[in-house]
Amino acid sequence: MLNFKEEIARILAEKIDSLSAEAILPLIETPPSETMGDFAFPVFSLAKIYRKNPAVIAQDIAKTIDDPLFEKVDTASAYINFFLNKDVLAKEILGELYEKGEHFGRVDIGHGKNVVLDYSSPNIAKPFHIGHIRTTLIGDAIKRIYQFLGYNTIAYNHLGDYGTQFGKLIVAIDKWGDKEAIQSNPIRELLKLYVKINEEADKDENLLAECRYWFKELEEGNPRAVELWKWIRDVSLEEFERVYKMLGIEFDTYKGESFYSDKMPTEVAKMEAKGILQDSQGAKIVNLDKYDLQPALIIKSDGTTIYLTRDVATAVYRETQHQPDKLIYVVGSQQILHFKQLKAVLEEMGYDWADKIVHVAFGMVSLKDGTLSTRKGNVVYLEDLLNKAVDKVRGILDEREVERGAAIENKEELAKQVGIGAIKFQELFNSRIKDYTFDWDTTLSFEGETGPYVQYTHARINSLLRRGDFTPVKLDTSRLVESEEVALLKALYNFTDVVVDAHDKYEPFYVTRYITELAKSFNSYYNKTQILVEDEELKAQRLMLVYGVKVVIKAGLALIGMAAPDKM
Ligand code: ARG
Repeated sequence: MLNFKEEIARILAEKIDSLSAEAILPLIETPPSETMGDFAFPVFSLAKIYRKNPAVIAQDIAKTIDDPLFEKVDTASAYINFFLNKDVLAKEILGELYEKGEHFGRVDIGHGKNVVLDYSSPNIAKPFHIGHIRTTLIGDAIKRIYQFLGYNTIAYNHLGDYGTQFGKLIVAIDKWGDKEAIQSNPIRELLKLYVKINEEADKDENLLAECRYWFKELEEGNPRAVELWKWIRDVSLEEFERVYKMLGIEFDTYKGESFYSDKMPTEVAKMEAKGILQDSQGAKIVNLDKYDLQPALIIKSDGTTIYLTRDVATAVYRETQHQPDKLIYVVGSQQILHFKQLKAVLEEMGYDWADKIVHVAFGMVSLKDGTLSTRKGNVVYLEDLLNKAVDKVRGILDEREVERGAAIENKEELAKQVGIGAIKFQELFNSRIKDYTFDWDTTLSFEGETGPYVQYTHARINSLLRRGDFTPVKLDTSRLVESEEVALLKALYNFTDVVVDAHDKYEPFYVTRYITELAKSFNSYYNKTQILVEDEELKAQRLMLVYGVKVVIKAGLALIGMAAPDKM
């Protein structure tokens, strides 16, 4: 498909001696309103060179441009505005659509590149709650977006399976544990035990010492401790995997923090050798003054390592294994300092790839209604949230069956696709760094800017295509002239750019918003225009356009991990 921005840059470069096409390309903008054209080029940067009023420069350049790509080129003060020739636009899009079908819009910019992603990464024996849902869904969407652009992704679930809490759990299981109860409900039972042992150990020094002792035993490979640790990890992982399965989310590996424990000494030795490790009241730290960061604690005064130390070893391992383009971590904004320190420590160690580290941070979620509130000890489990969404959608579908007097095919599957999809959509509808409030009513509504609305639009198009006996055709583009049709063509053309932007900024919500707007544009077109007209040729063209909308909505939904049911 023609890249119009590149074409414009090439044409402008022929007119402007002092700027190359490469320099012009990033300056080309998409104007906020249609009246300003499809693309605009601000000439401010030329004012110095030409020593003329920018508006005059713009006019001088615009006058000389005569290219079949454009219907019109004009100016508005310092901007040159380009209005695309609709025929060219339509031909480009519909040609590509005809050739690529379901693969419309893909570009292979990630060809041959690896990207490592770290997301979800819950902690064993601590709750997998509504906060974890964000890293899980944002991480999965970023993975899908990178894959769409041709990258090879490696998804790590950096399980919190290491640390002093395991000493506590071992003691708690010995004292009060009911293995069967744990087996059947691991996350909840282990959390209960963890809360209880913390309460008791707060009051009892001896008990605390016992917990420390067992953690040390675990680290030194005491077989009973190791066996118990393994069991705790296995039963917890089984439960996490059940939830991931509901979500349709997969990881390439569950190498958790424990995996890197034997890889830390090498890195600590490297810090020693580099002379960057300093003693500080019995602990060992790396000074990060020159980064304007507080010192990074590497070894605690009792000789144990911390989360950061494990992340140093983890990053080195991933870099060595995959030589990735990027090491992406999708973790809440509470850990901004942690990742700055991680990057700085790696730099201090002389790892020239430290700048591959990308912390994709996100804000907090809170709940609007009290039904799932996180009051003390009353955590929100992701699985409960998902089940509740599915139940609610099933209820809506039940009502519909009564209204229509007809059964809905695949009701159970549909309830899952819509219910779980609605949660994903809602999670991915805003800039990730924004805190937001979760609200059931907006999430599950079939109207407005929601997942069900977009899915429903897709199903609606599907039924239209069925009724119109759609088969892809090569098009004579001169017939799609309605303003809504032109708007849809442009929107389709923008799809790839939107995905590339989402990839640049690690912002899945670009995709979510885009498909929502596309669905809205389609619906207003559909309400205004008859698509299944008598004129067979016009009908074929309109159906092809509408098919394009369907392909893009479906691809967009897939990028944020949502199913696109054919019927709803
Ligand atoms: N387990 C951590 C938490 O829940 C997140 C781990 C993120 N990944 C990493 N490599 N630090 O807070």
